[in-house]
Amino acid sequence: MERLPAQADRLGLGPWREALAELIAARTRMIAGDGKGRRYLANEAGLPEVTPSSFDLAGDRVRIGSAADLAPGQEATLRSALETLQPWRKGPFNLFGIEFDSEWDSSLKWNRLAGHIAPLAGRRVLDIGSSNGYYLLRMAAHKPQLALGVEPYLTYFFQFQLLQHYARRPELFTLPVTFEELPVLEGYFDTVFSMGVLSHRRSPLDTLAAMRRVLRGDGQLVLETLVLPGDDERVLCPDGRYAKMNNVYFLPTVRVLFGWLRRCGFKDGRCIDVSLTTATEQRATPWVGTESLTDFLDPLDPGRTVEGYPAPRRAILLAEAR
Ligand SMILES: C[S@@+](CC[C@H](N)C(=O)[O-])C[C@H]1O[C@@H](n2cnc3c(N)ncnc32)[C@H](O)[C@@H]1O
Repeated sequence: MERLPAQADRLGLGPWREALAELIAARTRMIAGDGKGRRYLANEAGLPEVTPSSFDLAGDRVRIGSAADLAPGQEATLRSALETLQPWRKGPFNLFGIEFDSEWDSSLKWNRLAGHIAPLAGRRVLDIGSSNGYYLLRMAAHKPQLALGVEPYLTYFFQFQLLQHYARRPELFTLPVTFEELPVLEGYFDTVFSMGVLSHRRSPLDTLAAMRRVLRGDGQLVLETLVLPGDDERVLCPDGRYAKMNNVYFLPTVRVLFGWLRRCGFKDGRCIDVSLTTATEQRATPWVGTESLTDFLDPLDPGRTVEGYPAPRRAILLAEAR
């Protein structure tokens, strides 16, 4: 984490160096004072020291190292460290020959958008809600100047730390904070990814406006979120849970999203994909240990959630900052 303020000048983050350093210091103290945080720090400290002989960040399964890189006994230590950090929601990965499938096959989402977005080479990228960094690692294959993830949930943040411990990508960073806690890096980013986050915000227009502020003019927003079917102007605000999630606030139609984008300072909004989420993309695996999509749908009508709402469908929109 400390690498970020240390490299602030090189990365054009000079004006925010102090604010970033203070935020990181506060989070570091918080983690050290938290039971879960201390457990994850100990887990990190016990990771076997191994240098990967090879990487593949361009394939659907992110691969770091191979089984032959490990000394005897190291595989068991590494496997146990990975298990401590369950659930692995995003992936899949192959770490030194240990293949692990996350709840989501995140390659499907990446493949839906990768051919449409502005090329990431040389760009400053923000990934809001970056989870374990699966997408950051996929981005690294496209040579951005910097790709910064923000991920407040400690389990996922430490998953990223573990992967980065071995990947050692100098252009990748993750901070264990919410987007709202990050200093307003006004006009700094060339591309902002907001995937799977907007429907969890109580005030989605304020969130979109905040994303606009951190983009430079003509910078690109990659927005993926739950939507309603249909081409009319409707928004669902579930009364209680949606697909068993208690933190889903707004599901708009794609047409409403276009309007939100325009009202929040974006132009040229276009929808590049709408997909119903299937059990190929989201399913229980041994690395998760929780319920998954099929448990969230009505067993008699998989077109509906257990609460009777339209089943999860997600749209990907691109738009540029005006
Ligand atoms: C549904 S997941 C999506 C993960 C990933 N972006 C994807 O599309 O697969 C939402 C993630 O955002 C994180 N998150 C929730 N609130 C956030 C906030 N205010 N700022 C940044 N991340 C947040 C969660 O911890 C979680 O990892």
